[in-house]
Amino acid sequence: MERTYLMIKPDGVQRGLIGEIISRFEKKGFQLVGMKFLRLTKEMAEKHYAEHVGKPFFPGLVEYIISGPVVAMCWEGKDVVSVSREMMGATNPAKAAPGTIRGAYAVDIGRNIIHGSDSPASAERELSIYFNAGELVEWDRSL
Ligand code: CMP
Repeated sequence: MERTYLMIKPDGVQRGLIGEIISRFEKKGFQLVGMKFLRLTKEMAEKHYAEHVGKPFFPGLVEYIISGPVVAMCWEGKDVVSVSREMMGATNPAKAAPGTIRGAYAVDIGRNIIHGSDSPASAERELSIYFNAGELVEWDRSL
């Protein structure tokens, strides 16, 4: 089954949106298989956003993502990488459709509430930053 890495960013945590965001993915039918509440180190942030090194917004992005706690999650389900990105909406919340998470709760590209892996390969890379294999739980929702 496909897996993705989703992270509620410091703005999502500070604005009290943890429950709302988790609820959307649960109700959609995806399965939570790993979750941590943590504050990223600078090293973790630089590893996570390695592809953005050198871009003008990179220093601000790292400073922001380490400024407070985040919720790091692994979700599993059919096409979860692409479907969860649809549910999140466009990276720039100003362009995100109203029913999406960013469309409903954000206006600023630098404060866009949630991160989601953009491909299965990115998901694998990002999950390895936050979770050991043994920390992802296998469970049967039908029981
Ligand atoms: P995310 O999906 O976490 O991946 C990279 C992040 O960089 C993105 O969300 C935004 O929060 C941030 N980002 C991308 N482009 C810009 C930009 N032009 N200005 C500020 N932040 C940006």
